[in-house]
Amino acid sequence: MAGLEDLRKNWLRPFFFYGNNRISLIGGALTSASALVLIGFWVVDIFGHGGSANPYLGIIFDLVLPGVFIFGLVLIPLGMLLRQRQLKTAGQVPSIYPEIDLRDPVFRHGIDFVIVATFINFVIVGTATYRGVAYMDTPNFCGRTCHVMAPEASAYPVSNHAGVACTECHIAPGIPGFVHAKVNGTKQLMMVMSHNYPTPIMADDKLPAAKFTCLNCHNPARYIGDKLLVKTSYGDDEKNSMTRSLILLHVGGRDNFSRLSGIHGAHMGHIEYIATDSTHQTIPWVGKTNDDGSVTEFVSTDAKGPITGKKRVMDCIDCHNRAAHSFDTPEEVLNRDMSQGSPSASLPFIHKQGLLLLKADYKSQEDAASKIGSGLESFYRSQYPAIWNGQRAQIDQAAKTLSVIYSRNVFPFMKVTWGSHPDNIGHNNYPGCFRCHDGGHNAKGGKSITNDCSTCHNLIATDEPNPKQMADLGLQ
Ligand code: HEC
Ligand code: HEC
Ligand code: HEC
Ligand code: HEC
Ligand code: HEC
Repeated sequence: MAGLEDLRKNWLRPFFFYGNNRISLIGGALTSASALVLIGFWVVDIFGHGGSANPYLGIIFDLVLPGVFIFGLVLIPLGMLLRQRQLKTAGQVPSIYPEIDLRDPVFRHGIDFVIVATFINFVIVGTATYRGVAYMDTPNFCGRTCHVMAPEASAYPVSNHAGVACTECHIAPGIPGFVHAKVNGTKQLMMVMSHNYPTPIMADDKLPAAKFTCLNCHNPARYIGDKLLVKTSYGDDEKNSMTRSLILLHVGGRDNFSRLSGIHGAHMGHIEYIATDSTHQTIPWVGKTNDDGSVTEFVSTDAKGPITGKKRVMDCIDCHNRAAHSFDTPEEVLNRDMSQGSPSASLPFIHKQGLLLLKADYKSQEDAASKIGSGLESFYRSQYPAIWNGQRAQIDQAAKTLSVIYSRNVFPFMKVTWGSHPDNIGHNNYPGCFRCHDGGHNAKGGKSITNDCSTCHNLIATDEPNPKQMADLGLQ
């Protein structure tokens, strides 16, 4: 009891006595108002469905609001100190501090002030926060404010995952994933605001494992079996000669009798690897756990010295790394668009000219659009005046298509250019499967990770002008 009385007399009473000044009272009001807003949003975040998964909101909830809270907290002792000093110079420090008495009008006035100021601050801080949150959730914020995401944001709407929120793949579920995303989001936003971010932005090792993201929607045991790919290519000759390849990919999976087969079946859950770079393009060591529990280690002939680093269990993302925002190679995308009609293959040398224009250096996407247009014009005007006069509409359309291709894949301000973001499916444009299946990853017994073409696919036709199998299959 004596301790309580001591606390009241020597601490609480002087606290309220000196605390009854404008600065401390405003501080108290700021602190309580920001605390109320913070608690309100935590409640919505935890229980509500109206909460937002936007990782960048951390800047409001982890920096701005706590900042206001702490600023308020600092004002309280500051005001008290100032008042104490003022009373001291005036010689007005009381020998006994007045009782805390709700009927005391001076004390009551202070309490009223805090209540009213808290209410006003709550409305102001609350509205500002709400508007900030609403703004940060708009595509406008992601597209413009976070312009550094422009490459991914423009590849995403044309992908098969256009309806899948960025957060579904980028944020692990549960509290740790949530906290990690908040901290990371805040850090990234600070980097953007201080213009201190890497160009290009590359994938890092922090992406959640597929079992937390992809497998929420995809069944890893689904049997896909064989998949036929038809690839159309055009030549660099005047006629843009067309050829076709037919590839039967053995995707496989787990069949009705639980047997694993093919590309999917071969890697499920028991292959680990060590990569020496953050985008996992160089893989000197691969380990495979066999059915009897033993581990076969495959070491690359390129590896020098002992191999150290974090082991990663291979999952969907190690092959499907560009599932939601994939960038093309100029050859690939030009072939695909030409096979769909634009640029028209009836324009002489359009494949060769198109590639030259796509691969040239431009300052910006606008610069590219205008130079691609003038480049095609000067080529056809000087080399093929008859075509320039007769097929103007097709030339304009070709220029438009080439500009769109460029603007979806090259972002000079982010230093994202052709090939910046490798795609791990296949092996022709990037190392891909051949990061391990290059024939140079050997186990002790002499066995190596297979490089046999037919394990992965049957090449039914390669670059043939008119494969007869197309007709057999009823394709044209
Ligand atoms: C279907 C899953 C998925 C979705 C949806 C998704 N991403 Fe990704 N994202 C990935 C994967 C996987 C990687 C790792 C790529 C790699 O390793 O090459 C990645 C990498 C990135 C990177 C690093 C740079 C790069 O391109 O490799 C950025 C930036 C990024 N994503 C932004 C976004 C944004 C913005 C959205 C929403 C518009 C989004 N992502 C939606 C799966 C996804
Ligand atoms: C929120 C659900 C969802 C998540 C999460 C998701 N996907 Fe998908 N994915 C889909 C749907 C739906 C389709 C089919 C789209 C269609 O056919 O139009 C699809 C299609 C695909 C395809 C075939 C089309 C293509 O682009 O080649 C692949 C491969 C794929 N997903 C891989 C992944 C990987 C890898 C991840 C994790 C990084 C992932 N998905 C995460 C829903 C999801
Ligand atoms: C070893 C590499 C590899 C791994 C690991 C892998 N895939 Fe695939 N997957 C492929 C290849 C190759 C294809 C065929 C690509 C194509 O269509 O061009 C494919 C095709 C697919 C498709 C499209 C099937 C269709 O009907 O068109 C889906 C969906 C898919 N994978 C999902 C997954 C999921 C989910 C995982 C993780 C459980 C996964 N993949 C793991 C290589 C892989
Ligand atoms: C991280 C290394 C790694 C990557 C990347 C990788 N694989 Fe594999 N793959 C392996 C290992 C290890 C085995 C098992 C080899 C063995 O048992 O001898 C394997 C086995 C296979 C098999 C079965 C081979 C057989 O003899 O039956 C196929 C098919 C296959 N992979 C296809 C692919 C395809 C397609 C890709 C690219 C989309 C790919 N792999 C990417 C490591 C990898
Ligand atoms: C480890 C598996 C694997 C091995 C081994 C392999 N390939 Fe492939 N290859 C693939 C995959 C996966 C694709 C499909 C890429 C895609 O979906 O576009 C592919 C695509 C191709 C294509 C079509 C390329 C295109 O995009 O036009 C050709 C040609 C090809 N492979 C040739 C070969 C030859 C020749 C060999 C033997 C020396 C070989 N591959 C070995 C996995 C493999």
